[in-house]
Amino acid sequence: MVFKKKVIELLKNVLKGVDIENLIEIPPEEQFGDYSLPCYKLSKLFKKKPDQIAAELCKKLKPNKYIKEIKTIGPYLNFYFNEEKIVEFVLKKIQKERDFYGSSEEGNGKKIVIDFSSPNIAKPFSIAHLRSTVIGNSLYQIFRFLGYKCISINHIGDWGTQFGKLIVAYKLWGNKNELEKNPISHLLQLYVKFHKEAEKNKELENLAREEFKNLELGKKENIELWKKFTKLSLKEFKKVYERLGIDFNRYVGESFYESLNEKTLDLLRKKKLVERSEGALVVNLDKFDMPPCILKKSDGATTYELRDISAAIYRYKKYSFDEMLYVVDTRQSLHFRQVFKVLELCGFKWAKKCKHVEFGLMKFPSGVMATRKGKVVILEDVLDKAKELILKIIKEKNPKLKNKEKIADQVSIGAIIFWDLLHDRIKDIVFEWDKVLDFEGETGPYVQYAHSRACSILKKAKLKVEELKLTKDCFALLNKKEEIKLVKLLGEFGFVIKESATHYKPSILARYLIEVAQAFNEFYHSCPCLKEKNENLKKLRLLLVFASKQVLSNGLHLLGIKAPESM
Ligand code: ARG
Repeated sequence: MVFKKKVIELLKNVLKGVDIENLIEIPPEEQFGDYSLPCYKLSKLFKKKPDQIAAELCKKLKPNKYIKEIKTIGPYLNFYFNEEKIVEFVLKKIQKERDFYGSSEEGNGKKIVIDFSSPNIAKPFSIAHLRSTVIGNSLYQIFRFLGYKCISINHIGDWGTQFGKLIVAYKLWGNKNELEKNPISHLLQLYVKFHKEAEKNKELENLAREEFKNLELGKKENIELWKKFTKLSLKEFKKVYERLGIDFNRYVGESFYESLNEKTLDLLRKKKLVERSEGALVVNLDKFDMPPCILKKSDGATTYELRDISAAIYRYKKYSFDEMLYVVDTRQSLHFRQVFKVLELCGFKWAKKCKHVEFGLMKFPSGVMATRKGKVVILEDVLDKAKELILKIIKEKNPKLKNKEKIADQVSIGAIIFWDLLHDRIKDIVFEWDKVLDFEGETGPYVQYAHSRACSILKKAKLKVEELKLTKDCFALLNKKEEIKLVKLLGEFGFVIKESATHYKPSILARYLIEVAQAFNEFYHSCPCLKEKNENLKKLRLLLVFASKQVLSNGLHLLGIKAPESM
C-alpha cells in the first residue's frame, strides 16, 4: 500500500532491529487507521505489557507530512494517513504511468519458464485444460509486468501408450474422411470405443502396447499416423488459443524429449539411481515416502516421468532459468514431487527452482469428466454457449451498440476466464452458468462493465486527461468517503500484483478488481462528475474516473481479459 514505507521509516528510529515490515498490518476497519502495529507481538522483546509499549511508542512519534495522526487503542498503535497527500500521490502517479501503472523492475535480469496449458493430442481441449491455460497465461503476464523475462512452453502431450491405443483403434475402425473433417471428435470416438471393446477383449491392450512400441522404434506406418493425429489436433488447439487471445513462446511436445531419454537414463545410472523392479526401470524413493518413480515400463516403453526429467534438464541447459513453474492440476502433485526429487538426487541444484503450481478441478453440476468414457465438456462448446447468452443480454441492454459480435466475444470469454481466476486455484470449482455471466455479481462482465462506464464518462467529458493540470492545493477537495476509499484502493494496485506473483495466485488480483469495480460504482453513484459546478473538483473527479479506468484495464489485461470501451 502507498505510504507503507512512510510508516516503516517513522518506526525505524524507535524500533531498531525489529522486522517492522512484517509486523505492521492493515486494520480490519477504517476507524483503526490505515496501518497499525499490534504491540502484543513486541511484549516478549521488551518485557512489558502491550498497552504500555503502545503508549510509550506513541509518545515518541511525531506526525509528518504523510501521516497526520498516530493514536493508541489498547495494545494497538494506529497510523492515519494524510488523505490529501495520498490523493495527490496516487492520482499523479497513475496519470503519469498509465499503462505501466503497477509494473515494476524487480524481476529485471531474472528468467521464469512457465509450462502451462499442455493439452493432449487426439483428445478434445476440455474445460479441464482451461484452468491451466488461463492461470498460466495470467502468471506469465503478471511476471512480465514485474520485469521478469518469461518463457511460456506448451508441453503438448503427444507421446505415450495412448497412441498405441489410438493406432489400434484407427486401424480397426477408423475412417480417413471423418478424421480429416472432424479430427478430434473422431479420435475421441475411437479412444472411447477402444476402452469399451478392451473390457471384453483383453488382447486389445497387448496390441496397443505393441503398436506404441513400434512407434517408439520408428515404424513408418505408425509414425505417419501419429504425425497426422498430431498435426490435425494442433490445428484445432491453435484455434482455441486464438479465440482466447493466448499465445506461447514455444510448443514442444513430449515426443521431442524421446531422443534425450537414453542420455538421461545413462546419467541416472551413473548416479546409481536406477533399479529394476518387476521388469521396469525405476528410481526407488522409499526414503522419501514416495512410491518409485517409473522410468521405463516392463515392456520397455518410456514414461511421462522420464520425459519430464529429460525436459527439465534440457530446459535448464537452454534457459538457465531462475524459476520454472508447472501449472498442472493437483492430481499430478505426486508426479511432480517424484520428478523434482529425482532431479535433486541427480545433483542438480536448480531442482529447487522447479515448482508445481497446482490447482483444483473444474466441476460441472452434472458430474465429473472422464475422457475414457467420452464424458468431456468441450471448451469450444462452452465458449459458444457463453457468447450466445451474452449476445442476448447485450441486445436487450444496449441494442444500439456497434460491433456486437466482437464485444460479445470479449465479454463471454472474459466471463469464463474471470470466473476461473477468481477462485483460489487450490480449490475445486463448480461451473454454473448464471453465476459466471451475471453482470451484477462478482464476475468478469461486472468488472468490464465498470470499466466501460468509466470510459463513457470520460468520452462525454471530452477532456484530455493527460493534459489535465491541477493546482497543488486542490487535492484536498477530494474528501468524500467514497472518493477516499477508491483512491486508497487504487494506490494498492502494485502491492496486489506482487502478492499475486508471490503466491502464484491471480485470484488475489481478480478479487481486488471486484473491489475496485464496487468502489468505483459507489463513488459514481454518490459523487457527480459531469454535473459538478466546482471546476477543480470536477477535474479531480474526472481524474479519479480516469485512474479507475486505468487500473481496471491494466488489471484485466494481466488476467488475460479484454477491456472493451463500451458494452
Ligand atoms: N499433458 C498433461 C496432461 O494433460 C499435462 C502436462 C503438464 N506439463 C508437464 N511438463 N508435465 O495431463
